[in-house]
Amino acid sequence: MGNSVVNSSESAGRRHWIAPSVLAADFGHLAEEVEKINASEAELLHVDVMDGVFVPNISFGFPIMKTLRTYSKKPLDVHLMITHPEKYVERFCDAGAWSVGFHLEAVDDPAPVLALIRAKGVRTCLTINPDIDVKRLEPWLGEVDMVLLMSVFAGFGGQSFIPESIERVRHIRRCIDERGLGTLLEVDGGIHTKNAQAVFDAGADVLVAGSAVFGAKDPLAAIRAMKAE
Ligand code: DX5
Ligand code: ZN
Repeated sequence: MGNSVVNSSESAGRRHWIAPSVLAADFGHLAEEVEKINASEAELLHVDVMDGVFVPNISFGFPIMKTLRTYSKKPLDVHLMITHPEKYVERFCDAGAWSVGFHLEAVDDPAPVLALIRAKGVRTCLTINPDIDVKRLEPWLGEVDMVLLMSVFAGFGGQSFIPESIERVRHIRRCIDERGLGTLLEVDGGIHTKNAQAVFDAGADVLVAGSAVFGAKDPLAAIRAMKAE
């Protein structure tokens, strides 16, 4: 996977990437919020798109994506919480996504949707909610650039990390390593400075953090603290 756009932070062969979720940003000052992340050690900017159907909440779509593309120096990691992702993935690719992810449980067959993203030269990601058996991800680990394990139920920022997620992260890490794959493992929901290390230790490569970054007095320090070995 070409990571040239990412400031790879790897220690002892393991990545410790942080992807701040813009969902928790102050939308009245979106450009300034993005500038803060530009100045930080974060590798990605996580973009949560909700349609009010797949999840009981609506966030934002293409106009905000355009603003993010304009201001962000960090690659955009798009997390689609929508039904019928096949209708929209290409537009998110064209809007400048670095990766486009959608939920396995939102589709009958992920393969054609992944193919649409791949055909645009964009990284693919498959995501599952905490109530979906992790085994359902296994056949896809070699087919995608990244998998995203939700550690809260998709739909809202600011929820508490579900402790059972740690075992799910360990399981997927084992599967990736046993098969010698380079697939990135991302974890999303309820991540903060106090639990980040445990989630990295369980095998995550990328941690999404919304409120822990944008709700912090010093977002740059919060990001640094989460990355700390
Ligand atoms: C939840 C979103 C998350 C959310 C994370 O549906 O997918 O990315 O923004 O927010 P925090 O870090 O506050 O749990
Ligand atoms: Zn997300």
